[in-house]
Amino acid sequence: MKDKSKALEALLQENRVFAPPQDFVAQANANDAAIYDQASADRLGFWARQAESIDFFEPYNEVLEWDAPFAKWFVNGKLNVAYNCIDRHLKTDRRNKAAIIWEGEPGDTVTLTYQDLYREVNKFANVMRKLGVKKGDRVTIYLPMIPELAIAMLACARIGAPHSIVFGGFSADSLRDRIDDAQSTLLITADGGWRRGSVVPLKGNADQAVEGDSPVKNVVVVERVGLAKSNANMVEGRDLLWHELMKESSHICEPESMDSEDMLFILYTSGTTGKPKGVVHTTGGYLVGTASTHRYIFDLKENDVYWCTADIGWITGHSYIIYGPLANGATTVMYEGGPDYPNKDRFWEIVEKYGVNIFYTAPTAIRAFMKWGTQWPESRDLSSLRLLGTVGEPINPEAWMWYHKFIGGERCPIVDTWWQTETGQIMISPLPGLTKTTPGTATVPFPGIEVDVVDEQGNSSDAGYLIVKSPWPAMLRTVYGDPERYKSTYWSRFDDYYFTGDGAKRDELGNIWVMGRVDDVLNVSGHRIGTMEVESALVDHQSVAEAAVIGKTHELKGQAVAAFVTLKDGFEGTDDLMAELKAHVAKKIGAIARPEDIFFSAELPKTRSGKIMRRLLRDIAEGRKLGDTTTLADPSVVQKLMSQNDE
Ligand code: WTA
Repeated sequence: MKDKSKALEALLQENRVFAPPQDFVAQANANDAAIYDQASADRLGFWARQAESIDFFEPYNEVLEWDAPFAKWFVNGKLNVAYNCIDRHLKTDRRNKAAIIWEGEPGDTVTLTYQDLYREVNKFANVMRKLGVKKGDRVTIYLPMIPELAIAMLACARIGAPHSIVFGGFSADSLRDRIDDAQSTLLITADGGWRRGSVVPLKGNADQAVEGDSPVKNVVVVERVGLAKSNANMVEGRDLLWHELMKESSHICEPESMDSEDMLFILYTSGTTGKPKGVVHTTGGYLVGTASTHRYIFDLKENDVYWCTADIGWITGHSYIIYGPLANGATTVMYEGGPDYPNKDRFWEIVEKYGVNIFYTAPTAIRAFMKWGTQWPESRDLSSLRLLGTVGEPINPEAWMWYHKFIGGERCPIVDTWWQTETGQIMISPLPGLTKTTPGTATVPFPGIEVDVVDEQGNSSDAGYLIVKSPWPAMLRTVYGDPERYKSTYWSRFDDYYFTGDGAKRDELGNIWVMGRVDDVLNVSGHRIGTMEVESALVDHQSVAEAAVIGKTHELKGQAVAAFVTLKDGFEGTDDLMAELKAHVAKKIGAIARPEDIFFSAELPKTRSGKIMRRLLRDIAEGRKLGDTTTLADPSVVQKLMSQNDE
């Protein structure tokens, strides 16, 4: 799949149609197509009905107040997210139901019932209150996928302290930037985490991130791998051990009464500038949006075991491991480690062991499973599965068919869900008991969601930009500390429409095919990386004069980072320097941003007006015949680059 345009062509020629299986339809949470008509006839009424499944301490008096582009949902309602995700289930048969089934990479397991979760969350909420964390204070969480991560975020929600979770794969520098931007006073981390048998040195990174001038007053450390093993150093007066603090803490903690529009969390995501954006999500709308989509799209039933394989450091983990599922009283599985550790059937072993019914993963993972071979899933009993989902990038039809056949046993509907950190909730997806699907399309908007494909002028079109036409409950409310950036990034390209940054097409059946980003955001293994962030990391190295970064089509990752670098005088583009630059990016941002390829060039190909020709760089990186080069200022630059790729 070297040639991206060919892959896209193949995607659009895909016309196999899969109708929901009859027995699935019969039991589905949504099996009457009237849900779409009703929602479009009365969108706010639809969302008001969804809000009935959420407990408000004080009722809201208006569904939506829209002062474009600023939205308030469930206006003046008072509620608490942790109360909705835990306390209210204790009054029902769910009290002793497994809320979280957790498995560590080494094979250790913990099951937290709703009652257990209540106790742990309250205890940690009291710990934070004792440390002086008040409603509105930001708390940064830098943890591996361990139960304490879920407990910490719910405890934050309980006391009204917005969390900012930083994925454990991010570097010390990235962590520092995010802490500083949010001005967090508390950092929660672990001595380390397990990844493919080795220890990720989280505490070491955390120490660097808060060294010197930092808003962080205390660091709470979970002992995950053992302090000795991780070489973690505890700083007297600043660092405190989780289990020590928990020992003395009371398990009664009244939840804060939060306004619907109080901030629930900040999550940083890459944009088109060098500085990641703090996407702000609030309380009422976010919970209504995630809980309702989770219930309908994943067809959740009381006894289901549901597993989303994302990391909670990304939005998918926030919305569909924790908040949506727990608000619905589900049993949600959390797994700490790699999919191929110790063997390539680890995921299928987990499905078999816990009898997972609903499984949600990313196309990049499916492509890896395909490469590893069918013997791995075939050696496990996957008959408990009844529904599959994907998220993060367009799924290529081959991967869809493989997933359908070898994981779903040709009986499970697949929901291809399109959404973003900013949308908070799934926006485009089949409803598994209603929607006919075709491999590669996320199909149609969720009821109550209005999207369109528009041309440059903002007119509805069959190909162009994906936009959202009206506000939705879990939408981002702003960019933390930067409402102007919120307006200019999302709401200025087309008047009154939310601009997604994605290109899309619509077919004759009305299905929407999301084609990928049209801005300078890469999608590497389903993770967003801004080209500017990588460029800034490169020019931060003493040898680099200028850098241009592009996404190169990659068989497994979807896209891989490729960098074009011009060096300062006196430096030579050796293999050693190449390795050093790759390591430098990993150190500055995190391993996910490490360039796969670096091309050295005396100059970068630019137009006569000085714009770097990224399309050309993409052609070079992918070894393609070059298109139009007539606008190039100096054609010889390209010849030299091309010859490098042949080497
Ligand atoms: C891409 C992840 C096609 C898209 C939830 C979007 C998808 C970006 C799909 C958001 C899908 C996500 N089909 N593309 N089903 N799901 N994307 O913020 O480019 O990490 O803009 O949120 O992923 O990535 P983010």
